[in-house]
Amino acid sequence: MSTATRKTWLSRRASEAEESVTLAMTAKANQMKEKGIDVISFSAGEPDFDTPEHIKKAAIDALAKGHTKYTAASGLPALRKAIAAKFQKDNGLAFDPAQIVVSCGAKHSLYNIMQAILEEGDEAIIPAPYWVSYPAMVKAAGATPVIVNTEEKDGLKIRPEALREAISPRTKALILCSPSNPTGMVYSAAELAALADVVAKNDILVISDEIYEKLVFGVPFASIATARPELKDRTIVVNGASKAYSMTGWRIGYAAGPKEIMAAVGRMQSQSTSNATSIAQYATIAALEGDQGCVEKMRQEYAKRRDYIVGRLRSIPGVACGEPQGAFYVFPRVSALYGKRHQGQLIQGSVAMAEALLEKVHIATVPGSGFGADGFIRLSYATSMEKIKEGLDRLERFVRELS
Ligand SMILES: Cc1ncc(COP(=O)(O)O)c(C=O)c1O
Repeated sequence: MSTATRKTWLSRRASEAEESVTLAMTAKANQMKEKGIDVISFSAGEPDFDTPEHIKKAAIDALAKGHTKYTAASGLPALRKAIAAKFQKDNGLAFDPAQIVVSCGAKHSLYNIMQAILEEGDEAIIPAPYWVSYPAMVKAAGATPVIVNTEEKDGLKIRPEALREAISPRTKALILCSPSNPTGMVYSAAELAALADVVAKNDILVISDEIYEKLVFGVPFASIATARPELKDRTIVVNGASKAYSMTGWRIGYAAGPKEIMAAVGRMQSQSTSNATSIAQYATIAALEGDQGCVEKMRQEYAKRRDYIVGRLRSIPGVACGEPQGAFYVFPRVSALYGKRHQGQLIQGSVAMAEALLEKVHIATVPGSGFGADGFIRLSYATSMEKIKEGLDRLERFVRELS
């Protein structure tokens, strides 16, 4: 074929893939930092704490012992056993290690699951605001994301009636995230039970992203997999080491669910990445089986920051902020400020808002549009209290300068 007739070397999937808006904002902020600009970053989706020492030591020990070779593609048997024990202890969920696949981060788990269950013509229901990667992953599997908007009066959580209405004969799965990125909202057991009733009456699966499970403030964590007995066989639970143990760079995520589905996930992974990094798997055994005091220490610190940041945001005119009960994000509504100008620059929409905040007062946030909610911006408080204080001073100044 001559180059004149070839339109592109890229596949349709690759052409349509969008860059993650979160990573794009972080990259822009980093470029400014490299130029010596004092940027305060509220954009990163990762804990600011170091990985706890005993976990690092387990990786060093694994290295010293020569555990540097391929492991079983779906993960070390000892790790899958530790994960099964975690599900039993924390969630009351009994999984056989054969129902568990360890992947290179929860993002990889989610990607594999979608590849394993979705295809052309399928639909996956995603409540908005959603984590940026869900629609992209659904599309990458050839399926169609069906976005269901939620309302602030419902805590930005999907209502059972809205779920019922969104289900069609093509629906394959509901993708649920609690605690939520980006809103920080946490579904209660009763709310999950009401959603589970709808799921149980329809022939659909649930992908339950529970990566922020350990980061809840004053409310209990509940999994939809336990909301109704029927749901256990319909839910694929996703979790990982990144957020709870501050191990984002180690790239360990895992999923558990119905045997047939998880076997397919394992087969697909065996033909792509194979196993997650061996020494990171050993480190995760130590994380899961070791003292959980480190998680609690980090959780308490996040809770203090959340209280501070919510209080400050609520005191800024034009900014409306609900109280997140989990994760490490706040998702204030800033749409009351749209249409105003900062030093002549029109702020219309969340992208313009995030860009102006970065350029004018050097704070990096993430526009809500990336999460399917343009009226909002996301701020991560996985950064020191000192930086949070300074960043909020700047945000407040920026808002006061709007006209
Ligand atoms: C909701 C949600 N799910 C999954 C992930 C992926 O985490 P991991 O680092 O384990 O790939 C993230 C990370 O930002 C997330 O926010």
